[in-house]
Amino acid sequence: MEQFDVVVIGAGAAGMMAAAEAGKRGRRVLVLDHAKAPGEKIRISGGGRCNFTNVNTAPPNFLSQNPGFAISALRRYRPANFIALVDRYGIAWHEKTLGQLFCDGPATQIVQMLLREMEQGGVKLRLSTPVDRIDKAETGFRLSAGGSNIACESLIVATGGKSIPKMGATGFGYDVARQFGLTVTETRPALVPLTFEVGLLERLKPLAGVAVDARVASGKTRFSEAMLFTHRGLSGPAILQISSYWREGGEIEVNMSPGQDLFEALRQARTATPKRAVNTVLSQFVPQRLAQLVVEQEGVRGNIADASDKLLRRIAAALNAWRVKPVGSEGYRTAEVTLGGVDTTQLDSRTLAAKSVPGLFFIGEVVDVTGWLGGYNFQWAWASGWCAGQAA
Ligand code: FDA
Repeated sequence: MEQFDVVVIGAGAAGMMAAAEAGKRGRRVLVLDHAKAPGEKIRISGGGRCNFTNVNTAPPNFLSQNPGFAISALRRYRPANFIALVDRYGIAWHEKTLGQLFCDGPATQIVQMLLREMEQGGVKLRLSTPVDRIDKAETGFRLSAGGSNIACESLIVATGGKSIPKMGATGFGYDVARQFGLTVTETRPALVPLTFEVGLLERLKPLAGVAVDARVASGKTRFSEAMLFTHRGLSGPAILQISSYWREGGEIEVNMSPGQDLFEALRQARTATPKRAVNTVLSQFVPQRLAQLVVEQEGVRGNIADASDKLLRRIAAALNAWRVKPVGSEGYRTAEVTLGGVDTTQLDSRTLAAKSVPGLFFIGEVVDVTGWLGGYNFQWAWASGWCAGQAA
C-alpha cells in the first residue's frame, strides 16, 4: 500500500493548482489522471493562447444554484495572484477585450508553469492511470488505481465536467460525489452554440458564415458581443454566453444592429436618398447578405421611397428585435463547460471540503459554479484549487 497525504484526481487546471499548493505546504501529494497528458484543456483553450483569467472577475460572472458560494474562494485567490504567478515565470500576456487576458505565446506555457510549480512541491504525477475504486478508510481514503493500492488522508476530486468527451471528459466526479452521499445538481452543456430546426435553417442558409456584432437576450440577461450564423444555427461569443441562461422551449431576442434604431435610420434614408434600394440602405448597418435576406423575406421591391412606415418598421424589427426559438444546443461535443455539478450547499466555501466527509474536496468545473466566457472558468479553477491546496 502506497501512502500519500493528498491524492488529487485530475491533472487539469484546478487539480494541478491544488496539488502544487498542497505540495509546497510540505504535504506528500500524488496526482492521478487517466489522460496521457496533463492540462489538455488548458492546451487547447483560448484558441491555443489560453484566456487564463479575467481582470473583471466578480461573483455575478458565475452561475450556480447557490450564487454566493464562489465569493470566498474568488476573494482568497484573485486574478492579480495568478497574474503575479504568470509574471514570475516570464510568460508574456496581453489584454484582448472585456478584461480577458491571453498568453502572447502558446497555452502550453501555462501547463509547463503548473508542472514546474508541482515539481517545486515535490508532487508525483501519474498519467494514463484510471481510478478504479475509492473506499473510505478509518482515517482518509483507499484507492485502487492503475494496479496500485494507495492510501491518503485527503482526496481532491478535480475531474472537470462532461464537455468534450473526445478529450476524456467523464461524469466521474459526479459519481464520486454520489458515492459519498453528496447531491449533484442538474448538469447541462453551457457556453455552447445553439441549433435551429430544419425549416429555419433552410431559410437562413445564405447567412452561414456571416458575423455581426449583436446584443442577445434571454429573459433579463443580455450580452453584447460578436455572433455568427452557422450551418446548424448560431454561435460566437454572444451566443455561447446566452446559452448558459437559455432553456429548451424559450426564445432569445437578437439585436443585430445594437445602438442603431433602424426604423429611424430607414425613415431618414427615405427622405435623404429616396432612389436607393432598401437593401443598399440596410447594408450600411448590417452585413450585405443579412440585409439582402431580410429584404427578400419581407417581400420588399423597389426603392426606399416606395416603402411604407409599416414595412420599414417590420424590416427594422427583423434586425433590431429578432425573436427566435432555438431547438437545442450542439451539446457536450462542443460545449466549453458543464453547467451544474456537485451541490455547493454541501461544501465549505472557504476550503471546498465536503462538510459531511472529512478530507474529501471538490474543485474546479465539477462543482456547481460555472463562469461566463472570457477567462472566468480558469479563474474559478485556480481559486478553488488554491483554496483546497491550503486545506488538504
Ligand atoms: P479540466 O477539464 O481542466 O481537468 C480535468 C482533468 O481530469 C482532465 O485532465 C481529465 O483527463 C481528468 N479526468 C477526467 N475524468 C477522470 C477520471 N475518471 N480519472 C482520472 N482523471 C480524470 N476557460 C477559460 O477560462 N478560458 C479559456 O480560454 C477557455 N477555453 C476553453 C476552450 C475549450 C475548447 C474548452 C473545452 C474549454 C475552455 N475553457 C476555458 C474552460 C476551461 O477549460 C475549464 O473550465 C477548465 O479546464 C476546468 O478545469 P478543471 O481542472 O476543473 O477541469
